[in-house]
Amino acid sequence: MQQSEALIAALEGADDAMMFASGMAAASAVFQALDKATHIVASQVMYWGLRAWLKGIGRFGHTITFVETSDLDAVRAAVRPGETGLLWIETPSNPLWTITDIAAISEIAHAAGALLCVDSTVSTPILTRPITHGADVVIHSATKYLNGHSDVVAGALAVAARTELWDRIRDIRAEIGATLGPFEAWLLMRGVRTLHVRVKTQSGTAARLAERLVGHPALSSVLYPGLETHAGHDIAARQMAGGFGGMLSIRLKDGAANAIATAAQVKLWKRATSLGGVESLIEHRASIEGEGTPCPSDLLRLSVGLEDCDDLFLDLIDALSKSSRR
Ligand SMILES: Cc1ncc(COP(=O)(O)O)c(C=O)c1O
Repeated sequence: MQQSEALIAALEGADDAMMFASGMAAASAVFQALDKATHIVASQVMYWGLRAWLKGIGRFGHTITFVETSDLDAVRAAVRPGETGLLWIETPSNPLWTITDIAAISEIAHAAGALLCVDSTVSTPILTRPITHGADVVIHSATKYLNGHSDVVAGALAVAARTELWDRIRDIRAEIGATLGPFEAWLLMRGVRTLHVRVKTQSGTAARLAERLVGHPALSSVLYPGLETHAGHDIAARQMAGGFGGMLSIRLKDGAANAIATAAQVKLWKRATSLGGVESLIEHRASIEGEGTPCPSDLLRLSVGLEDCDDLFLDLIDALSKSSRR
């Protein structure tokens, strides 16, 4: 496990890294380690499982405000100097792929005496190293791109500087038994060896797919930060080097039923949760996230794997034509 921690720390340009038994274990350890009742500001659009868990954060004595963190004024308005101890952002955010400006948010956080934690699962250290943009802590669901083979559940934290908080996180990891197992650590290192090749290929394919899908008569929008029309494109271009990631979403003009029907028609894309593996996945996220999700019901999330771009495109186009009236 220590070898995998040294690897993640080096990739993130971090002072230290810690591996966990899952991404959720890594994320929740940060909140549990806050030493006093703290106000937290977090992205409204983020991994739904963490958002659901954070809604009950009051039992640890903390309060939380969810905001659209791509809107810096909204973040400034939500932060309470002296009270807010932690800003938590996810960029690109799952599953709308909005972009939050890490450097700008780190300034807001630090001016208020708060820490900034960035969930960089989707960007990976190949595209973004949040610590170089001012983040204090970086979190990954290593289950996703870092491992890349959909056969490990793991989490990672990387830290800009070792602090008392970092020591408490280490204690919590041991106390609650959230340490990564040695076999998983070994598998993870196997996966990280091809991280740069996978992420660059997946980003390239996702970008080509997004461009080709724009304007399709069955779609109302294509959500991908690599598109110049994307609201966060310029910020993404600044903080993501060498690509915009392998995740995109499409919204269907004919609504939820049509989106579900499309996901049922694909042959090469697999209908499954998770993301960041070598196989391409498609999912109707609103069905998974349930009531209260900010995810529109007409949205399909696409995790681009390593298959041929033309094959993926034709499979999707075929499914759209079979399920759509357009
Ligand atoms: C962006 C993001 N962060 C954190 C998690 C949680 O990670 P894990 O599934 O490894 O617990 C996920 C899982 O889907 C995720 O997508």
